[in-house]
Amino acid sequence: MPQEKVLVVDDEPTIVELCTRFLNKEGYTVKTASNGLQALQLFQEEPFDLLLTDIRMRGMSGLELIDAAKKHDQGIAIVVITGHGTVNMAIESLRLGTLGFVIKPFTMEELLTAVRHATEKNRLVKENIRLRSLMPLFEINRRLVTTDLDHLFKEIAQSARLETKADRASLMLFDETRQELEVKAHSGFSVVIPSKMTKKLGQGVAGVVAQTRKPLIIQGGVQQNPTLANVLEDAEILSSVSVPFIGKGYTKISSLTRPPVTHERLIGVLNISKSSPGAAPFTESDLELVTLLAGQASAAIENAQLYQELHQSYVKTIRSLVATIELKDSYTSGHSENVSRYGAALVQEMGLSASEIDEIEIGGILHDIGKIGSSEDILLKKDRLTKEEFEIIKAHPANAVKILNPVGLSENILKIVLHHHEQCNGKGYPIGLTREQISLGARILMVADTIDAMTSDRPYRKAQPISKLLSELKKYSGQQFDSDVVSAFERLLQKVGPDFFRHQ
Ligand SMILES: [Fe+2]
Ligand SMILES: [Fe+2]
Repeated sequence: MPQEKVLVVDDEPTIVELCTRFLNKEGYTVKTASNGLQALQLFQEEPFDLLLTDIRMRGMSGLELIDAAKKHDQGIAIVVITGHGTVNMAIESLRLGTLGFVIKPFTMEELLTAVRHATEKNRLVKENIRLRSLMPLFEINRRLVTTDLDHLFKEIAQSARLETKADRASLMLFDETRQELEVKAHSGFSVVIPSKMTKKLGQGVAGVVAQTRKPLIIQGGVQQNPTLANVLEDAEILSSVSVPFIGKGYTKISSLTRPPVTHERLIGVLNISKSSPGAAPFTESDLELVTLLAGQASAAIENAQLYQELHQSYVKTIRSLVATIELKDSYTSGHSENVSRYGAALVQEMGLSASEIDEIEIGGILHDIGKIGSSEDILLKKDRLTKEEFEIIKAHPANAVKILNPVGLSENILKIVLHHHEQCNGKGYPIGLTREQISLGARILMVADTIDAMTSDRPYRKAQPISKLLSELKKYSGQQFDSDVVSAFERLLQKVGPDFFRHQ
């Protein structure tokens, strides 16, 4: 049973009553307020773990309330209740630290999922802040503060080698599913070591250290250590130190059914070795140094992993917000997800990098967010749009960027969103850029958008067959569409077949 105290703020008594009933049923302690000022009054009287607030209220708005609540208590979790017309504000609230949304009308399940998610995420954020403040401020540590895991692994391996004057160092991560260690970074190796070098538990020195979770220092080779003959695999090594990385361990954000448990877990093993004849063997103080480094590295690795998880869950939050709104908005249902999927497939076909796939996926999800809240009369109109109506539609890429600006997305993603209606021949909108001026991501999205538009029913026509789509794309290749992207679509279609473009 949850122990959290929730403050529900909404000027609609029925919503307040509904939320109170749902949350009480689940064991939450609930207080209510019908406006922002009343809520602030309650904050003065007692602490709350979570604020569940409407966004559009008379008097103080939801955004102002969130801002004030965060100033009063940085650690409070926020969930926003939003309707169809308040998406801009809902997204703006992300910048203020909102962790979840409930979209009206909502079910008990939707409300509870959002509240549980937010409380769990909040716990992780607090833990992260605590970890950071616990980390001692050594020079090595400063270099370890990064969210790029591969870079972090390299730094750790290199620091371990340099600090102990070792010949070689390697960092191995433990894969819990496969129950084996895998080399992620190394330093000082003159021979190329296989990229997928692995060790089972108990196999070799690192495997023994992983199994026992105890550091191991070896002075001298096999001759001096006959009992270790079966684990000493490299005859050249004269001295070595291996220490386990132990992390605090977290339950994953997705685990909502069980209460959060923290338990120690094996992250990996850090190894250093010397093989030059005549070099002094490692001492206890080398072992101490590597243990200290492994301790700091564990915290840094867990931090970076946590950051990546939070980033992913942040993107997931926006994604589910868009999906829910589209679902409630009859004909656009699934459009953004489809465009995102087609865009990612095209990027992959064109041989671009993983980060570019990521950007097009997010850009695809968000590209039409500026349309949300536009009048349905225009969006669903069967006849030709008037000049004025078309002007309103043409504003949606810029509106989207206005909505997304505070969120802190990368420039590439914002360009995809802003330029997804620009055409290579300069006849697109909002600016009329030409091919060289349009980013590749935006040119890919233009094609992905067209694929979904042509294969969907529209108010004014039925879905078109794939053959028609292909002939249309080829007809305007080099004009409206980028010819490289159209060729990529042709190849993709050959490979995956027309079913891939059927709506999911
Ligand atoms: Fe659009
Ligand atoms: Fe679109």
